[in-house]
Amino acid sequence: MTEAPTARKKGLFIRTYGCQMNVYDSERMADVLRPLGYAPASTPDDADMVIVNTCHIREKASEKVFSELGRLRDLKAQKRQAGDDLVIAVAGCVAQAEGAEIMRRQPAVDIVVGPQAYHRLPEMVARAARAAASRRPGTMKGAGVLDTEFPVEPKFDHLPAPTTVSGGSAFVSVQEGCDKFCTFCVVPYTRGAEYSRPAAAVIAEARGLVAAGAREITLLGQNVNAWHGAAPDGSTWTLARLIAALAEIEGLARIRYTTSHPRDMDAALIAAHRDVPALMPYLHLPVQSGADRVLEAMNRGHGRDHYLRLVDQLRAARPDMALSTDIIVGFPGETDGDFDDTMRLVREVGFAAAFSFKYSARPGTPAAMMARQVPEAVRDARLQALQALLGEQQRRFNGALTGHTVPVLFQEAGRKPGQLLGKSPWLQSVHADGDARLLGQIVDVRIVAAHAVSLSGEIVAGDFASTRTAAAKPIEVAA
Ligand code: 5AD
Ligand code: SF4
Repeated sequence: MTEAPTARKKGLFIRTYGCQMNVYDSERMADVLRPLGYAPASTPDDADMVIVNTCHIREKASEKVFSELGRLRDLKAQKRQAGDDLVIAVAGCVAQAEGAEIMRRQPAVDIVVGPQAYHRLPEMVARAARAAASRRPGTMKGAGVLDTEFPVEPKFDHLPAPTTVSGGSAFVSVQEGCDKFCTFCVVPYTRGAEYSRPAAAVIAEARGLVAAGAREITLLGQNVNAWHGAAPDGSTWTLARLIAALAEIEGLARIRYTTSHPRDMDAALIAAHRDVPALMPYLHLPVQSGADRVLEAMNRGHGRDHYLRLVDQLRAARPDMALSTDIIVGFPGETDGDFDDTMRLVREVGFAAAFSFKYSARPGTPAAMMARQVPEAVRDARLQALQALLGEQQRRFNGALTGHTVPVLFQEAGRKPGQLLGKSPWLQSVHADGDARLLGQIVDVRIVAAHAVSLSGEIVAGDFASTRTAAAKPIEVAA
């Protein structure tokens, strides 16, 4: 009797750069490759395949990718000498934007896969394996399999649903792509046109995750609040309606969504922050600049007043609402006066957290061709001033919680033994000593000290009975 052949276990190492969407995509790539025998490897050395999931947003992103690929080429050479092999794949936005160039500059790369083609990875791996079988001995050349098409069929229909949840928190991708074409941004080119997953698919995925232990779900999309998906009743829902439907899932205590655009922040979504207790009182709402002239040149489609009005409405709906944002300094043509407008807007809003960037030209975007690029030294000085202000606001925001008791979702072990690390409703990291069995649970924690980017606390009732499903009590967090 012959035994059924079993696929040899192969190691898969994925290096992820950039946003939460990439983290989600990396997990989906691992899922789609699992049936082929790929299981997570802890280092590239232990792997038979390495995927570099790239991000195009940061400065010098592609240079960093090429130096990483150089290191992987050396590893591949070592492995081949030892009679093994290493499949090198490049995914994400740099793959989409510079696929052919990657193949040309680093021929050891086997696979280049754009974000819309992840569901076709198994087929690409099979093609790479066939190419390897017919390879000349001694060559370092990769298989040259490239797929950066924007397919007609949405990849979500072909990707396995996520099934594992660690630490009680999970992501669900609901929307991808962007039609906004901000003049500095590569996303509309790398991620393609806006696409919303149907409501039923999102709800089914969320139910599965809650059944697997998720207490919190974060809805993901490059323009998440532009989501408008086909509803089970044949109509089209907006994000507020989807959130209301998700809030009905038994056991789901926290709902978040990111990243939002001010133009798509409609009245129903603002009202959801008042009406849906599970919707967390925290919103990442990029403003990019506080100067109307600059916002116009960025093609943002909203002005300074529009943003400030939204903030007022959100805080009227949910008084303990905390806001975070993205800001770019030194956009082409930004004057000292424009920058002052940004600083004033930041003071007026009082952000709980923020990401701030020096403008950097992205080839192929309209802003890269604009006159009056701002000198590096000016961009540096502005970034420093802005970050000092934002840092102070974040410290003040965190400090306001000292002495308060807040529900914390413990998500992972802390750095010190016996310590747990979790998140407050306002997305602050909270450390507290506690039993590892509290991982994945929402527990009341009294905040005893606030630090620049985290909080320390003590578990109020160390038993499991303290698990809460309700949202936080509103507290004063004036910045
Ligand atoms: N230069 C600087 N920052 C940028 N971002 C996007 N493109 C650029 C660029 N060319 C920032 C924006 C965006 C965040 C994800 O990255 O603030 O919201
Ligand atoms: Fe980029 Fe603007 Fe789209 Fe955001 S809204 S992804 S910044 S083009």
